[in-house]
Amino acid sequence: MQYGHFDDDAREYVITRPDTPYPWINYLGCEDFFGLFSNTSGGYCFYRDARMLRLTRYRYNNVPADAGGRYFYLRDSATGGGDVWTPSWMPMKSALDRYECRHGMGYSKISSCRGGLAFSQTSFVPLGDTCEIHKVTLTNESKTDKNIELFSFIEFCLWNANDDMTNFQRNFSIGEVEIEGSRIYHKTEYRERRNHYAVWAVNVPIEGFDTDRQTFLGLYNGFDHPQVVFDGKAKKSVASGWAPIGSHHIKAKLGPGESKTFVFVLGYCENPEDQKWEKQGIINKKPANTLLSKYGTSEAADKALAALNEYWKNLLGRFTVDAEDKKMARMAGIWNQYQCMITFNMSRSASYFESGIGRGMGFRDSNQDLLGFVHLVPERARSRILDIAATQFPDGSAYHQYQPLTKRGNNEIGSGFNDDPLWLICGVAAYIKETGDYGILNEKVPFDNDEALADTLFVHLKRSFDYTVTHKGPHGLPLIGRADWNDCLNLNCFSKTPGESFQTTANFESGVAESVLIAAIFAFTGPEYVEICRRTNRAAEAEYAEKEITKMTEAVDQHGWDGDWFVRAYDAYGKKIGSRECEDGKIFIESNGFAVMADIGIKDGRAQKALDSVKEHLDSKYGIVLLQPAYKDYHIELGEVSSYPPGYKENAGIFCHNNPWVTIAETRLGRGNRAFETYAKICPAYREDDSDLRRMEPYVYAQMVAGKDAVNHGEAKNSWLTGTAAWTFVSISQYILGVRPCFDGLVIDPCVPSSMKGFTVTRHFRGADYHITVDNSAGAEKGVKSITVDGNPLVGTVIPAFGDNKIHKVVVTMGK
Ligand code: BGC
Ligand code: NOJ
Repeated sequence: MQYGHFDDDAREYVITRPDTPYPWINYLGCEDFFGLFSNTSGGYCFYRDARMLRLTRYRYNNVPADAGGRYFYLRDSATGGGDVWTPSWMPMKSALDRYECRHGMGYSKISSCRGGLAFSQTSFVPLGDTCEIHKVTLTNESKTDKNIELFSFIEFCLWNANDDMTNFQRNFSIGEVEIEGSRIYHKTEYRERRNHYAVWAVNVPIEGFDTDRQTFLGLYNGFDHPQVVFDGKAKKSVASGWAPIGSHHIKAKLGPGESKTFVFVLGYCENPEDQKWEKQGIINKKPANTLLSKYGTSEAADKALAALNEYWKNLLGRFTVDAEDKKMARMAGIWNQYQCMITFNMSRSASYFESGIGRGMGFRDSNQDLLGFVHLVPERARSRILDIAATQFPDGSAYHQYQPLTKRGNNEIGSGFNDDPLWLICGVAAYIKETGDYGILNEKVPFDNDEALADTLFVHLKRSFDYTVTHKGPHGLPLIGRADWNDCLNLNCFSKTPGESFQTTANFESGVAESVLIAAIFAFTGPEYVEICRRTNRAAEAEYAEKEITKMTEAVDQHGWDGDWFVRAYDAYGKKIGSRECEDGKIFIESNGFAVMADIGIKDGRAQKALDSVKEHLDSKYGIVLLQPAYKDYHIELGEVSSYPPGYKENAGIFCHNNPWVTIAETRLGRGNRAFETYAKICPAYREDDSDLRRMEPYVYAQMVAGKDAVNHGEAKNSWLTGTAAWTFVSISQYILGVRPCFDGLVIDPCVPSSMKGFTVTRHFRGADYHITVDNSAGAEKGVKSITVDGNPLVGTVIPAFGDNKIHKVVVTMGK
């Protein structure tokens, strides 16, 4: 069944009942300050780093689910104070006469009604500021006066989220707040090494406040029974240690039809080291005053929201789609791009599955995230590339992750994931194709974050390329190292110890285990490197690189082909993985998708055979599973992949990230029907009415959908932070709809289902706008018969980059 519907004109998903099969969330913020926000007002927020600078507390894996948020409690005095409820449904699970949550681009709106009192909450992070705004409006829809009491509630996190949930012997003694009028300041650790505090404020005078959790809730009460609210009176508690919270108590008298609006702001403020204090023990509130003075009225909040809407309208205006298939159009035109922004910002750090304390920015993840983001804000992609490249080692390998605050590589995980270096070439090539900015190659970028080791970005690319060239195994295929894209193929790990990290343990430095996937990634990104060399007058380097690519594809031909599909890898004993010789794990998706993407086997029919085998052995109703047969037992020589129960995660789950590789591969073969089928199967909008099984948000991709060996085949997990977002956007926009940036301009190369009779795409590209209409009344799957640009026939399929700030009309006719 459905729990809501899309509102495409508003670019919103409208949730119409609160008890969704899992909290359905949204992200607030698109620059430095972020909030996670569920359909029942759960979630938390942080400044730049979800681990180090978390403002509010959130309890992952809690019972009941989704514990922690920006809560509002209402109390209607007329009913003798008996009626207390939470208008966002949670945490009291209050019965509501009406409920709706609209998740939009960077904002969410919850509205509800109970006993004639309408409530609406609009939550967002304004552009350019480090705060969340929660605009709350109460409207008396009844025929009599109402005396309403409104209590706000947030629980402060003591900044370092990891410490916050582990170090109680210290934490229970350090909490500090200050209260000034309607403003509650959270200043734990400010007396020592922090120069930042949080402020939770409302723009009206208040009746009272509370800042001590136990006083507000009662020690043995949950969020669903706050004592203060039931008593109808704030206690003006001042937190000292234990758990500091922020709660305002507001009284609102409302005549019939009358509305009142309150603007709540939850902000992050910093002071220069020498200006921390107003006087001893009293924090300098200047930055808070400046921030709050901007959002003191509901008009100011509305203006900030309008600016945010305008921002998103412009961003999404850079690529729009119109087609008969509204599900595809809304995903490609709105939600997929939105998710690309979120993955760009978050990498894999903070979601309802990623705790925000675990992972920083991933080298391979962030490079791939660029692919779906670069057309939105190329300048930000550019600086991200430079940040990532600075975490590369001089030998071309790379820190697998880095911390967003310090931008330094993460020593705990280190390096040794041998696919990492190649993703840098992939990301930089995408950036140059989008922008034509070859200048980025001349930027001086440190190695290992050490300025003394800085060299040009081009040199970084060369080291990436050469790393693969110089790290090959016995079959001339790339050594896998700790793992390749599949973090769970840990072929040198040999772990027997429970809890030991599969990713970082290496008990067996075989120098033998090889990856066919890395070979294919090399064969796919290598030619981009060659193009970059050619276009920057590095002919000799281009020639060298071409030879290496040929060597690599020959190695795949000789040792990477299994008869009906591509082999996946060779283990530490030199035995095949992903071969009919294996008992389990006979066929894997990744090497097959990527090899065909790299054009390997296209000429001699192996590509087609490989993709047919993928369909035959790996396909399912909900997408293509990662491997078959699933590993039934733990294999010490394979690592984490065999640790999962069959059907989950990398052990034969539908690991959505690699499905678009098959989609793209299918378009290389011109099989538009099959390409689209693989696209649609994992596309959430097509499963909106199947939400009870899928469980995750119908507007975003999930990392994994349980595979056919799993009990809950079709159930999704890990929504939002997944490389699926970027790769699916690439597959639909560049390969199915076929509007693809290349070094010379925009290639027009659609590969669609024969039933798709046409579509239009608008694309902003290097300073001009292209309005592209594709006519497929011929019912073709691939092939362009003619193209006109501004009425003139185009020779070939590459539209030049006009860069003239004008709109260009492109008419494409598919067929022979
Ligand atoms: C997961 C992988 C993930 C890795 C990250 C593993 O447990 O299965 O999907 O990439 O952890 O560290
Ligand atoms: C999730 C990780 O973030 C990504 O880097 C990896 O490629 C996939 N899992 C597959 O293991």
